[in-house]
Amino acid sequence: MVVFFWGILAAGLLICPLEGLNSDGMYLLELKKTIHDQFNNLGNWNSSDQTPCGWRGVACTSDYRAVVWSLNLNSMNLSGTLSSSIGGLIFLTLLDVSYNEFTGTIPKEIGNCSRLESLYLNNNEFNGQIPAEFGNLPWLKDLSLCNNKLSGPIPEEIGNLSSLVDFVAYTNNLTGPLPRSLGKLKNLVTFRAGQNAIYGSLPGELGGCQRLEYLGLAQNELNGDIPKELGMLGSLTELILWDNQLSGFVPKELGNCTNLETLALYQNNLVGEIPMEIGDLKFLKKLYIYRNGLNGTIPREIGNLSMATEIDFSENCLTGEIPSEFGRINGLRLLYLFQNQLTGVIPNELSSLRN
Ligand SMILES: *[C@@H]1O[C@H](CO)[C@@H](O)[C@H](O)[C@H]1NC(C)=O
Ligand SMILES: *[C@@H]1O[C@H](CO)[C@@H](O)[C@H](O)[C@H]1NC(C)=O
Ligand SMILES: *[C@@H]1O[C@H](CO)[C@@H](O)[C@H](O)[C@H]1NC(C)=O
Ligand SMILES: *[C@@H]1O[C@H](CO)[C@@H](O)[C@H](O)[C@H]1NC(C)=O
Ligand SMILES: *[C@@H]1O[C@H](CO)[C@@H](O)[C@H](O)[C@H]1NC(C)=O
Ligand SMILES: *[C@@H]1O[C@H](CO)[C@@H](O)[C@H](O)[C@H]1NC(C)=O
Ligand SMILES: *[C@@H]1O[C@H](CO)[C@@H](O)[C@H](O)[C@H]1NC(C)=O
Ligand SMILES: *[C@@H]1O[C@H](CO)[C@@H](O)[C@H](O)[C@H]1NC(C)=O
Repeated sequence: MVVFFWGILAAGLLICPLEGLNSDGMYLLELKKTIHDQFNNLGNWNSSDQTPCGWRGVACTSDYRAVVWSLNLNSMNLSGTLSSSIGGLIFLTLLDVSYNEFTGTIPKEIGNCSRLESLYLNNNEFNGQIPAEFGNLPWLKDLSLCNNKLSGPIPEEIGNLSSLVDFVAYTNNLTGPLPRSLGKLKNLVTFRAGQNAIYGSLPGELGGCQRLEYLGLAQNELNGDIPKELGMLGSLTELILWDNQLSGFVPKELGNCTNLETLALYQNNLVGEIPMEIGDLKFLKKLYIYRNGLNGTIPREIGNLSMATEIDFSENCLTGEIPSEFGRINGLRLLYLFQNQLTGVIPNELSSLRN
């Protein structure tokens, strides 16, 4: 009886390998079917293996189940499409297919990979929309979509990504207004979506992103006012909003963003005066507000920008005297004031000027 039992067990162990590749491996082989792999980089993805753990680009957990936690196929000259079978790899925490030539849409089944922390789809030729199913990824920290051909709006569901730290989607064809739900992202540090066709106004809710350091939305079609709530972003170092259709005043509340290093508001339709609170930005290095409709005089507080290296107020309707306080900014390398109605002289201390 005992011998019989052990016999069955031994037979079971022998038979086990013949059961073949585990389910993660099957999903990967399914994935490979729609990938064109010109350089045979996935050549060792072999269906005779029991697990995919030794396959190029694949990493497994070290526990006895050995599930696939990471799939890294970046820069492998892969083309074709990413199929829905990716959704079977439910233990993935990292998926990187960046720097390939994938086409087609992003499979919504990625939303099934609910443990994902890092998702890099950037530098491909993905088209279609950002799947709303991405909102099902509660641990997602890094989402990179830049340099693709994505269109349509950033989905409202992005506000569900409560762990999100970096959202990078510049150089696509994204449209639509920005979702107000963005304000729910308390861990967001970087939001970059420049070079798209995003329209509508900047939601004041962005002021809720307490940890935001980089807000980049240059080269879009944003209109309306710059919301004063941006003044709540005490960690912000880069505010990059050039080449949009923003109108109204430069809000004085920006003076509260005391960590700002770059303020780029050029090529918009801003009017009114340069707020004297700009002088509170003690770490500001680059201040570009050229090509707008600013009027009034340049505030003397500008001289308080002791870290500034480049200031460009050219092509506005500024009047009055050029404040001598510019001369107090020792590191200033570039000061452009041309095409205004300013009088007076630029302080001698400054060189490399046009006026
Ligand atoms: C796959 O593995 C089997 C068994 O190890 C081997 O015989 C076969 O040549 C491999 N196939 C490829 C394409 O490497
Ligand atoms: C990708 O293609 C380039 C150019 O054809 C080649 O130099 C490079 O070695 C390829 N890299 C991989 C990982 O296939
Ligand atoms: C999504 O995950 C479930 C298990 O959580 C699985 O049964 C299902 O097949 C997956 N869907 C897809 C499209 O892979
Ligand atoms: C965006 O769409 C326009 C028109 O549909 C197209 O000409 C352009 O190449 C697209 N840009 C990108 C980055 O996909
Ligand atoms: C996800 O976001 C949508 C739209 O904002 C919302 O209706 C839904 O309740 C959210 N789901 C979860 C699970 O938070
Ligand atoms: C700016 O700071 C002042 C003083 O700290 C505060 O009273 C005000 O509410 C702040 N404004 C914004 C928009 O955060
Ligand atoms: C500046 O422009 C604003 C808005 O167009 C206007 O209300 C204001 O009177 C102007 N101020 C000066 C000093 O010209
Ligand atoms: C800022 O500049 C103004 C005018 O030049 C000056 O009166 C004020 O003391 C300065 N404030 C700080 C904090 O340096």
